[in-house]
Amino acid sequence: MRVTANAKINLTLDITGVRPDGFHTLRSVMAPISLCDEIELTEIESGILFDCNIKELVTPDNLCVKAAKLFFETIGKEPSISIYLEKNIPFPAGLGGGSADAAAVLRGLNELYGNEIDEKTMFELASKLGSDVPLCLSNRISLCEGRGEILTPITTSHCFNIVIAIGKARLSTPEVYRKYDAMGLDVCNDTDELLVSLKDGDFDKIVSSFGNAFEPVTDILAPETMQIRSRMMQLGALNSHLSGSGPSVYGVFESAEIANDVAKILQNEGYFAVSCVTLN
Ligand code: C5P
Repeated sequence: MRVTANAKINLTLDITGVRPDGFHTLRSVMAPISLCDEIELTEIESGILFDCNIKELVTPDNLCVKAAKLFFETIGKEPSISIYLEKNIPFPAGLGGGSADAAAVLRGLNELYGNEIDEKTMFELASKLGSDVPLCLSNRISLCEGRGEILTPITTSHCFNIVIAIGKARLSTPEVYRKYDAMGLDVCNDTDELLVSLKDGDFDKIVSSFGNAFEPVTDILAPETMQIRSRMMQLGALNSHLSGSGPSVYGVFESAEIANDVAKILQNEGYFAVSCVTLN
């Protein structure tokens, strides 16, 4: 069985507090995007075999393996699956690539096993695997709250032509959260503005309410992310922001043609760049 694992971007990301366990509470509108990994699941006699086109990802703690283990534990059966991951989503990037893979393995295995696990339990399993895994399991544009696992699907007909770009800078998610705390920044509230704009359906207002609370942090930790945002704007982006805790940056463009051209320009400038669309 072949399953698709879509990456996501954060159209907004507001940090609202810190929980006693150190995780942060957030309000974020996340959208799945067409950029995706492909996963092949094959039933075998016993065990979990895992392979990937990128050999550094072939480790026992890969989220695909963790998801499969959790799935078989939950249904009370001995594992018997081979997983092959064709990785296209850059990592680590703030695009939820690992989370998307975990969600796709859960979804695929459940289908293979006759949907033995109900939807509510599937979301509980997803939440155990990581903050973004529930969103990837739902694969719908949603308001994400709590530590990211409390989802409210958003009904909208809007899809956005985007370019994702990443430079050489690397960022660690826990480090970005730590620095955010240390900087004592004011809470921003792009999310409420976006939710109102989405209800009104005004495209310009929707796009201008995108934002990411981590940008003052990543502008310091990885100034290249700020440069990429400026470059996107120079190249005609309607808006451009960091996704997740970075280092990926997305720009929103008026048409798929413009997005394709911009991706080519950024590739020629030495960036990883790809044009794609948000899914709803
Ligand atoms: O859940 P996930 O594996 O994505 O989290 C990675 C790290 O990011 C956590 O260990 C934590 O340091 C930080 N994090 C956080 N609050 C969140 C999500 C992640 O502090 N809501």
